Amino acid sequence: MSRAFSSVPTSIRATLFPGDGIGPEIAQSVKQVFKAADVPIEWEEHYVGDQIDPRTQSFLTWESLESVRQNRVGLKGPMATPIGKGHRSLNLTLRKELNLYANVRPCYSLPGYKTRYDDVNLITIRENTEGEYSGLEHQVVRGVVESLKIITRQASLRVAEYAFHYAKIHGRERVSAIHKANIMQKTDGLFLKCCREVAEKYPEIIYEEVVIDNCCMMLVKNPALFDVLVMPNLYGDIISDLCAGLIGGLGLTPSLNIGEGGIALAEAVHGSAPDIAGKNLANPTALLLSAVTMLHHLNLHDKADQIHDAILNTIAEGKYRTADLGGHSSTTDFTKAICDHL
Ligand code: NAI
Repeated sequence: MSRAFSSVPTSIRATLFPGDGIGPEIAQSVKQVFKAADVPIEWEEHYVGDQIDPRTQSFLTWESLESVRQNRVGLKGPMATPIGKGHRSLNLTLRKELNLYANVRPCYSLPGYKTRYDDVNLITIRENTEGEYSGLEHQVVRGVVESLKIITRQASLRVAEYAFHYAKIHGRERVSAIHKANIMQKTDGLFLKCCREVAEKYPEIIYEEVVIDNCCMMLVKNPALFDVLVMPNLYGDIISDLCAGLIGGLGLTPSLNIGEGGIALAEAVHGSAPDIAGKNLANPTALLLSAVTMLHHLNLHDKADQIHDAILNTIAEGKYRTADLGGHSSTTDFTKAICDHL
């Protein structure tokens, strides 16, 4: 993480979307841990509405979006989207309306929690605004539907630039562009062209291109082959879940959405987990680690490190772990254990 020191204000306002499903339970964990660690954040909570706001065409209100625009920083819990019908996805609304163009997903082995690998240390950077998520789908004739994958030079250069800049300031050595340009010659071809252009400006960073199917095989066989991966939207969605599986599952992986003008919205990679919602079973680690990335973004590095270490020490100790990590602890007991480790 970059260490640009600046004076710490007494209190920083940040937007909090507790979200759906397990969201409110794990958001409560974050609030509890932040309070115990005396983090100078004042949360401005916003809930998903039950009526469509015509100004956003979504259950997210204009006021909620304005809150992030004003505060420039926030944390969001998972938001559910009905499959194949209904309203505009809340996540897509946030990404598009706030222009959250890059989603940074760190994925690293947790010391003391044994998986098949103990040397995973990857960053996936997902283009967040276009590709297969353009939302342009229609029926051509009965039985034939069409979905448009949009790739633009502007968005591809922007995310590639972010990936190389990230690699440079974090001392990373390699950026791999993940694609399927052998088949999607125009769309992924343009994405690669933009990555190559940006790579030329960073001769100190090794640049490579890997076809997505081969990338999956390489990741599963030897994740240490990769460092920073940058890719179009849908590939980023899939690859980051694969990476989560390498280190112990979705309960562990954080992310930070980066927007134009320095807006940052942290969120866990996982969804609303309706199968365990309301049962006090969810692992709050992914949202807590997302909140840690938010603190680094705000230059609150000491608080970020303190919370990060407390989470990892609690998991490594093994006494309190949630069910997804093979333990028997509830969300609240695990949260309390983290507070005790601060
Ligand atoms: P999911 O990530 O919610 O759940 C997949 C599996 O992982 C489930 O078995 C769940 O119990 C488990 N899991 C996820 N997070 C966990 C945690 N913190 N602790 C313990 N176990 C955890 O994915 P699914 O079921 O495909 O999606 C459910 C809903 O979430 C859908 O409506 C989907 O659209 C939405 N979603 C929202 C996202 C977001 O807000 N960024 C991202 C992904 C999905």
